[in-house]
Amino acid sequence: MPADAVAARAAELRALIAHHDERYHALGEPEIPDADYDALVRELRSIEADRPDLVTVDSPTQRVGAAPTGAFAPVTHRVPLLSLDNAMDEAELRAWGERLERLLDRAADDDAPVRYACELKIDGIAVALSYVDGVLVQAATRGDGRVGEDITANVRTIGDVPGSLAVPLPGRLEVRGEVYLPLDAFAALNAAQDAAGERRYANPRNTAAGSLRQKDASVTASRGLRFWSYQVAAADGAPDLRSHSEALAWLGGLGFPVNPELRVLEGIDAVAAFCDHWVRHRHDLPYEIDGVVVKLDELAPRDRLGSTARAPRWAVAFKLPPEERTTRLLRIEVSVGRTGRATPFAVLEPVTVGGSTVEMATLHNAEQVALKDVRPGDTVVVRKAGDVIPEVVGPVLPARPAGAAAWVFPAACPRCGGPLVRPEGAGNHHCTNEACPARAEGWIVHFASRGAMDIEGFGEERVRLFVDLGLLHDPADVYSLDLERIRTLEGFGEVSVRNLAAAIDASRGRPLANLLVGLNVRHLGPATAQLLARRFGHLDRLAAASEEELAAIDGVGPVIASTVAGFFRSEVARDLLERFRAAGLNFAGPETAEVPPLLAGMTVVVTGAIPGMRREEVEAAITTRGGTSPGSVSRRTSVLVVGDDPGASKLTKARELGVPVIDAAGFAALLETGAVPDVGAS
Ligand code: IVH
Repeated sequence: MPADAVAARAAELRALIAHHDERYHALGEPEIPDADYDALVRELRSIEADRPDLVTVDSPTQRVGAAPTGAFAPVTHRVPLLSLDNAMDEAELRAWGERLERLLDRAADDDAPVRYACELKIDGIAVALSYVDGVLVQAATRGDGRVGEDITANVRTIGDVPGSLAVPLPGRLEVRGEVYLPLDAFAALNAAQDAAGERRYANPRNTAAGSLRQKDASVTASRGLRFWSYQVAAADGAPDLRSHSEALAWLGGLGFPVNPELRVLEGIDAVAAFCDHWVRHRHDLPYEIDGVVVKLDELAPRDRLGSTARAPRWAVAFKLPPEERTTRLLRIEVSVGRTGRATPFAVLEPVTVGGSTVEMATLHNAEQVALKDVRPGDTVVVRKAGDVIPEVVGPVLPARPAGAAAWVFPAACPRCGGPLVRPEGAGNHHCTNEACPARAEGWIVHFASRGAMDIEGFGEERVRLFVDLGLLHDPADVYSLDLERIRTLEGFGEVSVRNLAAAIDASRGRPLANLLVGLNVRHLGPATAQLLARRFGHLDRLAAASEEELAAIDGVGPVIASTVAGFFRSEVARDLLERFRAAGLNFAGPETAEVPPLLAGMTVVVTGAIPGMRREEVEAAITTRGGTSPGSVSRRTSVLVVGDDPGASKLTKARELGVPVIDAAGFAALLETGAVPDVGAS
């Protein structure tokens, strides 16, 4: 880039960042996700690093946030609230650690390795709490780090925040921490919004911010906010605290909530492993995190290390992959599912969100499209949290192209051309054509899916092709599929046809519960299917059961009883069952003998394949015996089972933590006896 273009870009970035700072800090209504904001700041920083002449005193790289709006009374912080520098990946984390250890004059292989306090980076709102003689007198937002806003009345409604301390403490105490909205409270708020036909809240963080900025504290009180403390900023009457972890323990004793995932770890390798753990397990938590904050545990050297204008050198934020990004909404299409329901979805310019590429996202129904006011051509915020289906949160209105028109729900089914109708009072449009091929396709794809008959090779595209060719009309057709015909189709070689045949064959023996799920009976999900399979022991007995008999079962409500009984009385069901029987499908339920809880309280992690057992069977063998089987090794792991083709990282981790390791034979013994056998696998 020519020099003046670089200068112009720096100026543009500054203006953009200032605008987004104001939206975020002052108005509490960010337009773009944090990850997009961070990208702007990083770009500006990298320009300024190359061209120090372009750094201005008021550059956002030198500041923490935006000045308050004046809606709440200003509060000048006695000790400024700094921000944190980010480490975007392990290499940046290690670079930070090396620099810190160098500044501390401590070599990596020193006898006294550096101790790091590692905490979750809670995705909420920073607040500063002031106590005088043990009583909460003021709560303030961060604002621009120097001056925040007085939100005392609102913070007083948060049950986690002590109004007075558990132990008398004379003088001033200032505690900082994060106010956040747990996921269940967020879901409940959105359920209420749905019920009221109102727009959904975008994410827990923004909702927490909005909740804290209510003029009426009773609204704040109704939101279910929580608090974790993470810093003592000032304390007149504190004992001699030598480390951050001691300070947090002391706060805990005063009645402040301290996050239980805090770990003090020695050396940066252990820190990197901790961060990696949370990259994979962030969704195991009942609240959102966006990183791990790593702090030098020892307090004495902190002053010497000091801070830059915006962040201390003794701490860093390891960022997890962002779960929200912006991208372009290319168009809105409609898909028709196995019940005929027509669901609009967004076709997006591909973007990496939550660690995977997203090119499509559901828009739920016509009402949500209207409430969100997303239009083709818009720049939109896309969110993907864990296994949740990616979602379009809303448009970035200032970026809307001139003339972008609101989207109109199509009148005709994209698959069969039949009318798409939304009955009065219903939430969704439906294709009214009972014979719409989209229904059969949806059902067959569901029948072949993992939770049902688990038949490899029956993805949407293939099933659509087979339905279009008239080879499939319903799931039972799968077992009389004309493989000779398929062999002649373009793109189907000898191998793929053989694989298809083998996959179909293998599915004949699937457990009864899986077959029940595949039947696509409304309300008959995996849990009820398990229950019914165990209870009746055979498909014929279940099919013959009366509605009353079904309703009498503990765990089966009247609605399920009626739909299940209704289904088995239908012509469609009778016909299917006979063809399934003829195809040799397994109709028998599992043995009902109770399995003793030999593994109660144990955490058994498995890596690699256990000969003769499917992945689900391995897991079920553990969970039916009362154990848990998470996806990674931690301090809490009781034993690691190493099968064929194991992953190296779990084994390394287990050795590091001294977790016992057994092989497949040892696993068999464990299931048999509940005791970890003394056979080391290496
Ligand atoms: S320590 C000088 N610890 O992250 C140290 N911050 O980007 C300041 N945050 O403003 C913060 N969890 O709102 C710290 N365990 C934690 C945190 C945490 C979330 C937030 C906080 C801060 C921002 C920094």
